[in-house]
Amino acid sequence: MSHTPKIFVAGHRGMVGSAIVRQLLAQGHPAERIVMRTHAELDLTHQSSVRAFFAAEKPDQVYLAAAKVGGIHANNTYPAEFIYQNLMIQANIIDAAFRNGVKKLLFLGSSCIYPKLAPQPMREDALLSGSLEPTNEPYAIAKIAGIKLCESYNRQYGGSHGVDYRSVMPTNLYGPGDNYHPENSHVIPALIFRFHEAKVKNAPIIKIWGTGAPRREFLYVDDMAAACLHVINLSKATYDQLTQPMLSQINVGYGEDITIRQLAEAIRKTVGFQGEITFDTSKPDGAPRKLMDSSCLNALGWKAQMGLEEGLHAAYQDFLINYASKI
Ligand SMILES: NC(=O)c1ccc[n+]([C@@H]2O[C@H](COP(=O)([O-])OP(=O)(O)OC[C@H]3O[C@@H](n4cnc5c(N)ncnc54)[C@H](OP(=O)(O)O)[C@@H]3O)[C@@H](O)[C@H]2O)c1
Repeated sequence: MSHTPKIFVAGHRGMVGSAIVRQLLAQGHPAERIVMRTHAELDLTHQSSVRAFFAAEKPDQVYLAAAKVGGIHANNTYPAEFIYQNLMIQANIIDAAFRNGVKKLLFLGSSCIYPKLAPQPMREDALLSGSLEPTNEPYAIAKIAGIKLCESYNRQYGGSHGVDYRSVMPTNLYGPGDNYHPENSHVIPALIFRFHEAKVKNAPIIKIWGTGAPRREFLYVDDMAAACLHVINLSKATYDQLTQPMLSQINVGYGEDITIRQLAEAIRKTVGFQGEITFDTSKPDGAPRKLMDSSCLNALGWKAQMGLEEGLHAAYQDFLINYASKI
């Protein structure tokens, strides 16, 4: 008899979690075999609640896309919340998953796990080879601990219990369900918000921090979700072939980067802002380049599908429908 796995998507209301749910449904996974809980229904930092939830629901697989997430400002302002909540969420879920017989789990990290001065493009083996970017070090340390939790459970319980917990490290993501908070958002939603506001108010100029020269990589969130399903469904032999027991995370990137200036121009075009773009060169640029080396995942048969122009258009449509009215 075929058994359709019962899948828990932690963080299903977030940008990535909701894309994973869309992807599962699109690939024919029955809705009734997807388990979801809102933050209000289940606080994942609360150990006994998480254990009780897993004992009651007994999922077969877990996508761990719940996290406290934010941009530089939020990471700098709330470092205690970023390290504490992320450590707790992932430790509670990974341990409760193990205790309740979950064999397959996918943990989502972030490219900020790699050292500030990692050679570009950043390969998986750059992990723990140097100092982290100080502004998001607490968040990055929590994410590194998440990878190490997965690896440690695999090493201790892989043979005896069949535990197979994997990690993926996405580059910067954007798309439907993004966070448009004026202070806590990432660069694409922040620029969509500002360009839209400037267009609506007929502002003549938009000023962008820095020189516009830094290069960044962006991946559409539905491509990320497809990568998540791809990685969790790889055979263990295939996954093991391209990873190591203590270096097991897989990068998920678009494969190319663009300058912030090019990004701003692309968003201007998408939004239809007619004014001028200027760059405030007195403000810091951040790292000159941040690009993931995704050759491992490409070798495993996955590649991003959505180009930036089309992706920005879809993101802007989602913004107009779900957020613009709140401005
Ligand atoms: N967005 C990106 O560009 C990006 C890039 C690289 C990696 N990632 C990774 O992808 C993952 C998901 O990110 P995202 O962008 O989807 O974030 P998001 O939109 O903020 O979603 C996170 C989700 O987790 C939930 N959550 C947070 N704390 C919780 C708690 N204590 N109990 C229960 N639920 C809780 C949130 O619910 P509430 O909102 O109700 O708190 C939210 O639904 C994260 O691990 C992140 O590191 C994201």
